[in-house]
Amino acid sequence: METAWPGWIERKDREVRARLDQGDEDTIINWMLFGTSFTSRPRAVLGAVESGTAGDRELVLRRTIELISARLDDLLTALAAPDNDERRLFARALLQRKGLPFATAVEREAARNYLLAAVIRVATEQDQIDQELGATSSGDPLTEFVERSRLFRTRGLSLDASLVPNYSVEQALTAMKARGLLKPGSVRRVAIVGPGLDFADKDVGFDAYPQQTVQPFAVLDSLKRLGLAPSPGDPEIVLLDISPRIIDHVTRARARAARNIGYTLNLLLPRSTPWLPEVRAYWQAFGDRIGAPAQAPASKAIAEVAQLRAVRVRPSAVQRMSVLNVNIVTERLDGEAFDLVIATNVFIYYDVFEQALAMSNVEAMLKPGAFLLANFSAPDLRSVTIRPMETTTTLYARGLAVNENVLDFIVWYKAHAN
Ligand SMILES: C[S@@+](CC[C@H](N)C(=O)[O-])C[C@H]1O[C@@H](n2cnc3c(N)ncnc32)[C@H](O)[C@@H]1O
Repeated sequence: METAWPGWIERKDREVRARLDQGDEDTIINWMLFGTSFTSRPRAVLGAVESGTAGDRELVLRRTIELISARLDDLLTALAAPDNDERRLFARALLQRKGLPFATAVEREAARNYLLAAVIRVATEQDQIDQELGATSSGDPLTEFVERSRLFRTRGLSLDASLVPNYSVEQALTAMKARGLLKPGSVRRVAIVGPGLDFADKDVGFDAYPQQTVQPFAVLDSLKRLGLAPSPGDPEIVLLDISPRIIDHVTRARARAARNIGYTLNLLLPRSTPWLPEVRAYWQAFGDRIGAPAQAPASKAIAEVAQLRAVRVRPSAVQRMSVLNVNIVTERLDGEAFDLVIATNVFIYYDVFEQALAMSNVEAMLKPGAFLLANFSAPDLRSVTIRPMETTTTLYARGLAVNENVLDFIVWYKAHAN
């Protein structure tokens, strides 16, 4: 086994990273369906056909297809003239990697066909996921949470991120502090696995502002708000990710911070969800420990579907962050251990075996008795000593029925104290 291991783990690493391309493709499809920066057409909601009554189903279906087709044409026109638009350049680069330049009409048609096939793949996958969600609907949210902890195991690796998991993390940290599990000033070194990068959302096409990573700043903000960060000084935040897009994004933000340039965060709260007042309060206060309110971009398209505020983060906060290309399934960091590891919406992309490998890597990076906070239910493993200690339930919004509540769970995994 020892001789086979290096080759095996290298192959596993490549296998995991290969899933990034498909996630990037999903991102471009979502952008094509919902984005506002390259078209003035309405958003194309794939499931909209379901909401039509039986009689007009065909009509809704036809209109949706026409809309998608028109949006696709608008996107291709925009991609032909990318200027300095980071999203257009990213989409072009991905298509070119697939052997799809679009200098000529024939090449453009090939890119169109390619993207249309990807729309169908994304819709089919969504259908499968909806079916699995239906099959795991037991009425008990905690049981569903456990059963859905591998839900995206066959999907491409996406960088999508949203604000609310960070509210869940803050809730968990608050409870841990109240229980005396985290002492004031004690969190000096934090790792965030998979911080994510906003590109365009599945509900709201939030492409009216530059791409951003929110979680690293959210965690720093929460630790300071709760008095868990060392004082004076800020904790060191180490970001571990496999996406070259994230590595590059954070590296550039750090370089700007070194020239005393801050980082602007645009914080979006979609109107379609009836958020609890506590969630609104979190959104409103977000960033007050690490920066100051700033002017959000005026976008009519966004204003219709979401509230938006902006925060300008101080360069000194950006400089507390570093980023490393680490695959948590196959690698671990040696050296100084962490007081806290956070991973939200990462492990759900893996099956039990990869989750087991990842848990052993996280365990090796935690100080004895330190915690991993993650919104997934790990398989019951004898190979690691890290154990679930408690689960915080965070309610984001109340639905009409209990099973329509919008919520998430954060499990506190404790490393063995030796
Ligand atoms: C869906 S995003 C979640 C973003 C954010 N944590 C949130 O909850 O909003 C998943 C993130 O995990 C990263 N990721 C996926 N697999 C990973 C792995 N094996 N090792 C490190 N990062 C990984 C992705 O690149 C991406 O940044």
